[in-house]
Amino acid sequence: MIAAIRGTQDILPGAVERWQFVEATACRVFEQYGYAEIRTPIIEREELFAKGTGETTDIVQKEMYAFTDKDGERITLRPEATPSLVRAFVEHALEQGMAVPKVYTIGPMFRRERPQKGRYRQFHQLDVEVFGVEDPSVDGEVIDVAWTLIRELGITGVELAVNSVGCPDCRPAFSAALVAALGGDVARLCGDCQRRAVTNPLRIFDCKVPADQPVIDALPHTVDYLCDACRAHFDAVLRYLDLFGIPCTVSHRLVRGLDYYTRTTFEVLAGGIGAQSAVLGGGRYDGLVRHLGGPDRVGIGFAAGIERLVLALPDALALPEKRPDVFVAALGDPARESALALLRDLRRAGLNAQIEYEGRSLKSQMKRADRLKAPLVFILGDDEIARGQVTVRRMAASAQESIPRETAVAFVKANR
Ligand code: HAM
Repeated sequence: MIAAIRGTQDILPGAVERWQFVEATACRVFEQYGYAEIRTPIIEREELFAKGTGETTDIVQKEMYAFTDKDGERITLRPEATPSLVRAFVEHALEQGMAVPKVYTIGPMFRRERPQKGRYRQFHQLDVEVFGVEDPSVDGEVIDVAWTLIRELGITGVELAVNSVGCPDCRPAFSAALVAALGGDVARLCGDCQRRAVTNPLRIFDCKVPADQPVIDALPHTVDYLCDACRAHFDAVLRYLDLFGIPCTVSHRLVRGLDYYTRTTFEVLAGGIGAQSAVLGGGRYDGLVRHLGGPDRVGIGFAAGIERLVLALPDALALPEKRPDVFVAALGDPARESALALLRDLRRAGLNAQIEYEGRSLKSQMKRADRLKAPLVFILGDDEIARGQVTVRRMAASAQESIPRETAVAFVKANR
């Protein structure tokens, strides 16, 4: 037997209902806030993420499923949606058709990480982006969308962490302050951090090596190095969160593992879902659209991991039960054709009607109806056919009655 690839999973009936609930709730909330769905390809040019997500990120350096296509082109499975949505925004000049381009997408992403609970190699994101608005009220709105999604899903015990990572004007001073604060400690950090100290000191905050943490915890805070414009922007974001009644804590280490962030960054953390507690994360990326060859437009968004949202859902979730409206049983082979015709009529009328495919005893057909939790069973035998009738059994009451065949559809509709 050929097994599924490590870090991927099949989502089976019984579990998939929770996924459907998460996706349907997300679509409803996103549409309510005026976001439009967009679907982009799963394969993209590798350089979109090398440039977009960033050459110095773990995602690009270690985790991409990239390959050379037969025509020599470097292709990758997308590790995240943001660069793809920026590409689509530019390629289709979305701002010409949409007053404020606000988009969302749902789909699989791929990162070759070490699999564990809540961390997979194929995982799924709900991703939201807004292009072209610098005003901090849009930062407030995007975080409000995330917060509303969590609330509508019934997820409790979550915490919102926010931070500001500044802009290209204030970043150099902060990077210099990091390097200065590290001083001789760099040599004591892991090899990755020593490399990061040279290529992109901000990435040191991504380090997960336990021995490095005391040094990293003592490093300067981005918010203390913000320029006046970034400071004012961040203060306004905090004010809007207060206005929207969204509690948050400022988390100094929240620089996020992708290179494009400027100013606002945020994550929602949930307890009890394993070591991977971030159910969603996002932020502003004011230079990314231009960096990828588009016009000078700012952007902000977030992505939530569906696997982690599903893990964080309340156990007792009142999902609508899936069951047929009616089961059609045939007594003996000659009646099967009439039973199939009745099944056809019920289904054409939009009802969920089920049948036993292979001729079995009435007893085994009733058993199957019971397993499917059908509230009604129509029984058709030679007798019923001769009289133009159908026998109805109400499963809950174990009671039987006879109704005219031509009223069968209306009967189910009235007794669903
Ligand atoms: P990210 O923090 O890399 O951000 O991923 C967002 C969310 O995707 C995480 O909070 C987590 O729930 C989920 N996730 C990430 N990696 C995995 C994994 N290996 N297994 C399971 N779930 C995972 C981004 O991807 C940005 N594009 C978000 C964004 C949108 N920023 C601005 N706009």
